[in-house]
Amino acid sequence: MGNELKQIQTISILGGTGKEGKGLAFRWARAGYKIIIGSRSLEKAEAAVRDIHSYLPETASIEAMLNADAASAGDVVVLTVPFAFHREMLNSVKPQLQGKILIDVTVPLVPPKVTRVQMPSAGSAAQEAQQILGEAVQVVSAFQNISYENLLTQEDIDCDVLICGSRKAAREIVLNLVKAAGLVGWDAGPLENSVVVEGLTSILIGINKQFGVKSSGIKITGVSGAGKID
Ligand SMILES: NC(=O)c1ccc[n+]([C@@H]2O[C@H](COP(=O)([O-])OP(=O)(O)OC[C@H]3O[C@@H](n4cnc5c(N)ncnc54)[C@H](OP(=O)(O)O)[C@@H]3O)[C@@H](O)[C@H]2O)c1
Repeated sequence: MGNELKQIQTISILGGTGKEGKGLAFRWARAGYKIIIGSRSLEKAEAAVRDIHSYLPETASIEAMLNADAASAGDVVVLTVPFAFHREMLNSVKPQLQGKILIDVTVPLVPPKVTRVQMPSAGSAAQEAQQILGEAVQVVSAFQNISYENLLTQEDIDCDVLICGSRKAAREIVLNLVKAAGLVGWDAGPLENSVVVEGLTSILIGINKQFGVKSSGIKITGVSGAGKID
């Protein structure tokens, strides 16, 4: 696999022009990673790069590319598109992702009933991604419970990140990227567990609606010192 953390310098975000993708790009660019914003439109990606740059020092490294080029260029690739385009997007970049870690942020929401958990036949969006991409790609799911409203700020985020994936080494790499983004992460076990994490998002959207807020979250409690950012 060759995906040692020390080798991860470039993070590509497919659909990075959107709300969640721009927020993650900001957090990782702030931490010093080279970021590539992927899009179906180079012009749209360039506009997103200008937007993210406005939150950061000039030295931040953010580049615009078409999705397939971004998938080729990233040491790690992150997917942030609506679930309706999840399968189509993964099929379109499958060759470029071989041998890499894909961080899948997708929540399989089916509008209009987004407060109801509705999983795809594969079990979860992350398992669907693994089925589409094959075993040579290490799919790790994360960030599904982090509202974009929280990401594009300098503030600490009052929501933990649960990380699921088939291989512990890949989960550890993503755990370090979660910490780099300024968040508390937890190894939440195999990819099959992603159904719980993805489902939690519908519950949080429902709580947001009940209380008129935009970013309710979850915290793991009772584990003194563990999972904290160093
Ligand atoms: N928003 C949140 O707070 C949040 C929180 C947790 C998880 N998530 C998950 O993160 C993912 C992205 O959410 P978002 O709110 O960032 O979505 P979004 O802003 O609505 O869309 C993200 C990007 O998806 C791309 N896209 C749209 N239609 C497409 C198509 N037909 N084919 C390929 N790409 C297409 C667009 O990029 P281009 O037009 O540039 O190609 C768009 O900028 C979702 O799966 C969501 O469930 C979101």
